[in-house]
Amino acid sequence: MDKLIIRGGNRLSGTIPISGAKNAALTLIPCALLTEEALTLRNLPRLADIDGFQHLMTQFGVSHTIPGKRPEEFGRNVTLEAMRITSSVAPYDLVRKMRASILVLGPLLARTGEATVSLPGGCAIGNRPIDLHLKVLEAFGAHIELAQGYVKASAPDGGLPGGEFDFPVVSVGATENALMAAVLCKGTSRLVNAAREPEIVDLCNLLTAMGAEIEGVGTSELTIHGVSKLHGATYRVMPDRIEAGSYACAAAITGGEVRLEGAEAGDMGSTLHALRNIGVEIESDKHGINVAANGPLKAHNLTTAPFPGLATDMQAQLMSLLTRAEGTSVLKETIFENRFMHVPELARMGADIETEGRTAIVRGPTRLTGAEVMATDLRASMSLVIAGLAAEGATTVRRLYHLDRGYERLEEKLQLVGADVERVGDD
Ligand code: EPZ
Repeated sequence: MDKLIIRGGNRLSGTIPISGAKNAALTLIPCALLTEEALTLRNLPRLADIDGFQHLMTQFGVSHTIPGKRPEEFGRNVTLEAMRITSSVAPYDLVRKMRASILVLGPLLARTGEATVSLPGGCAIGNRPIDLHLKVLEAFGAHIELAQGYVKASAPDGGLPGGEFDFPVVSVGATENALMAAVLCKGTSRLVNAAREPEIVDLCNLLTAMGAEIEGVGTSELTIHGVSKLHGATYRVMPDRIEAGSYACAAAITGGEVRLEGAEAGDMGSTLHALRNIGVEIESDKHGINVAANGPLKAHNLTTAPFPGLATDMQAQLMSLLTRAEGTSVLKETIFENRFMHVPELARMGADIETEGRTAIVRGPTRLTGAEVMATDLRASMSLVIAGLAAEGATTVRRLYHLDRGYERLEEKLQLVGADVERVGDD
């Protein structure tokens, strides 16, 4: 396992290219199952989770080619083709490695009338049930059975009729599974209290480009008129708003000035609003976002919420930044039950953070010193990298596989803006 060694204190300056969005790509890739024609996705990030999902797709007979390899640039284009689905089983040994695999349930069911997908199990940040995924597919007319750790879903002869579902809790993944099933239903389906994250909009845009008929895109009420077939498409994945927000925090904690090339400010409203309140200067244009932290950082209270609220995926990174802000900040995590695992590691670097249930109280500014720290989940890992960039001395972040799941060529991007960071094999 690799580790990252960061020698803090450098002021970041320069331009970071922002990659395609991991959480959009993970729901765009399974759309290839919805058509027998070729689906070309552009700007896919080179990430472990993306490779893993493409490998899972081969289980169903999906071929993928990488037209025009360009190793020197970030991202890549991939063409996926599911002319014939050879299996509708997503096995445990693949699903357990990547919980987003549950996103093949809806499209497999819609295309073949059946799907057998291993239950994903929990993960570090919470037990992350999939009850809403199953309930919405049942509302569309699917028969769902849980047996031997698998979800077995089947559609009535002739296909899913479609139906209505009002989400009691906003769920990104369940909304995505619902959309990918509804587009091929016999009738019209309606989703109420659907997730509105930009990744959902990206999914709706791709499905529409493939011939789907969806009303209310970008709102929490979606109406989908089922069609009999979808055709192929070529589609560019949206930029990664969480990667961009993470590097904005990295720039800010070092008092730096960084341009996030390709970032889309429209997707990042709540994060940019929080950064401005903390005292970070933000200027956006149609090609990217400029981030500058010239003055002192100010404490600010944050509460995570479904879009357009503050993304839970930004909580850990903003907490690192707030350890260097003047005053006391209160952070409330409302989405997941265990998303403060970065706190004890930040404390070992000198941060003053007290947690009580889903609330964290950060007192600053504290002097951060480098330490050996352990990554536990993707965003917690990034918060440790951010703290390391401002810490005195060297910080060693172990278990980099967490970071490699969500940040394309992280150390290269940080080196582009002057960070003293290197990836070494873990002895
Ligand atoms: C997506 O996860 C993202 N992952 C997560 O990003 C992100 O944190 C999350 O949305 C919230 O924005 C991908 O897109 C691959 P949810 P997802 O269903 O779909 C509860 C990252 O770091 N819930 O919106 O799994 C659930 O327990 C990752 O990139 C149910 O109760 O999230 C949670 O409390 C981490 N039943 C809340 O809803 C269900 O059936 C939100 O979960 C589904 C969810």
